[in-house]
Amino acid sequence: MRVLAIETSCDDTGAAVVLNGRKILSNVVSSQISVHQKYGGVVPELASRKHIEAIVPMVNEALERAGVSLKEIDGIAVTQGPGLVGSLLVGLSFAKSLSFASGAPLIGVNHIEAHLSAIFLEEKAPRFPFIGLVVSGGHTSLFRVDGFGKYIRLGQTRDDAAGEAFDKVAKLLGLGYPGGPIIDELSMTGNPKAIRFPRASLGKDSFDFSFSGVKTAVVNFVKAHPAPPGGFPEEMVRNIVSSFQEAVVDVLVKKTFQAAQHQGLKRVVLSGGVAANRVLRQRMEEEASKQKIRVHIPSPAFCTDNAAMVGVVGYEYLKRGVRSPYSLNAFSNLPL
Ligand code: KG4
Ligand code: ZN
Repeated sequence: MRVLAIETSCDDTGAAVVLNGRKILSNVVSSQISVHQKYGGVVPELASRKHIEAIVPMVNEALERAGVSLKEIDGIAVTQGPGLVGSLLVGLSFAKSLSFASGAPLIGVNHIEAHLSAIFLEEKAPRFPFIGLVVSGGHTSLFRVDGFGKYIRLGQTRDDAAGEAFDKVAKLLGLGYPGGPIIDELSMTGNPKAIRFPRASLGKDSFDFSFSGVKTAVVNFVKAHPAPPGGFPEEMVRNIVSSFQEAVVDVLVKKTFQAAQHQGLKRVVLSGGVAANRVLRQRMEEEASKQKIRVHIPSPAFCTDNAAMVGVVGYEYLKRGVRSPYSLNAFSNLPL
């Protein structure tokens, strides 16, 4: 089954053709970073407009690279939420019209489920059940995953998402957008132990997260150490972001393995944009080998938003005969 997948939940216009939910025939993405950079974050109205411009070229390119025509597509999968409604609607309306024109069935996909399923694009995919951590710009949640469509949420962030905290700290320090990859890079040469930022545990048995405290601690640190004319010395910036990153990673690693222990599971899967973070990936691997647990982390390109992961989920539902009606709507909040 060849599934054409479309992803427009935020600021990336993605299109992919995926064979049998596992093999990527094509996977293209048009990033809007240069559009939003000067505002220090995604401007929703601009994002929708850019999706409108990019959607036709991206879908054409995905079909071309896969070497298939629309007639050879067996299903159309599209992100239905959560995300920016204006952005989602572009992908959704386009997918509906393609489905209507081609006769290929339509399936709406939950963006969080797509992130959790990105690991199935890798050669060594995990068996169910596993603990799934979703860490993105909009979400930080821990799930017990027993199969496609079988999710038990164990915890989630009570305030900022992990990626959101990276973006806000980078903005505060004037480092640019998106903050995650910039902080990741600067931290390589920073001292993670330079400043002790708080780690919110929220109680021994809680799998919830909170990142607003560490963000505020960075704000307070910067206020207490005003920058000299010309800005902070580079070494200080590196130490601040590296210490911030360390605090976030500590909490993510600790809670993920606590959840695995609590559920008696020996497999952990990471997903979402923040899972591209090098220190997080390394620390998860180290902890996993200590605890004799297997950790599965998608390649960085499958961690950040992409359409291939939408194709994985779309295939699983289409295969089971599930179809979405043309009345399918977009939702900024869509629980999993
Ligand atoms: O999954 P994603 O592409 O979009 C959402 O669904 O939100 O995640 C984007 C988030 C942004 O906050 C970005 O700063 C963060 O993921 N991110 C990273 C890295 N790459 C992207 N955070 C830390 N380290 C990275 N290397
Ligand atoms: Zn995402």
